[in-house]
Amino acid sequence: MEFHIREKTVEDKEWIIPYMRENWGSEKIVTRNTIHDATEVPGFIAEQDKKPAGIILYNIKNKECEIVLLASFVEKIGIGSALIDCVKRIAGMHESRRVWLITTNDNTPAIRFYQKRGFSLVAVHRNAIAESRKLKPEIPLAGVDGIPIRDEIELELLLK
Ligand SMILES: CC(C)(COP(=O)(O)OP(=O)(O)OC[C@H]1O[C@@H](n2cnc3c(N)ncnc32)[C@H](O)[C@@H]1OP(=O)(O)O)[C@@H](O)C(=O)NCCC(=O)NCCS
Repeated sequence: MEFHIREKTVEDKEWIIPYMRENWGSEKIVTRNTIHDATEVPGFIAEQDKKPAGIILYNIKNKECEIVLLASFVEKIGIGSALIDCVKRIAGMHESRRVWLITTNDNTPAIRFYQKRGFSLVAVHRNAIAESRKLKPEIPLAGVDGIPIRDEIELELLLK
């Protein structure tokens, strides 16, 4: 099951917009009360047989690199880990102090996944999703395993 990774381009909009609308409600991603547009932020795309097999989006600001979105469409063959490595590399090139991300309290598989890749839980922003819903009302009430989506969980990986 081979895959390769390339940088995201403007042409990726064509599939990212329908993908985001179908899977994440819209192309808006809200973290820490900030709206990111999935079509605007930079990222990397994993491909298999020239078809998208995964995506990671990031935002570098104030010497910190946020993973804004990570999704693998062909799981358990190394795509998620390889996409994180790409972002770690670019964050290092920009002399970022840390790579960080927000996931939600329901997403226990993601919390597990990131910790196994060296990330630490550094904050629970309690009830933050109530504020996020004001910016993105499409955020569902319940997530993984029917767990109510309430809190933002912040994880980080220190680079230096
Ligand atoms: C979390 C997520 C990104 C992981 O992506 P992935 O492509 O499955 O990740 P990987 O393949 O790198 O790793 C997954 C597991 O497969 C294993 N794996 C990797 N290559 C493998 C192979 N060739 N054979 C068998 N197992 C393999 C990894 O070791 C890992 O297991 P571990 O966590 O127990 O170590 C993916 O499940 C996903 O898209 N989830 C939904 C969206 C989401 O929640 N995103 C994050 C929230 S911000």
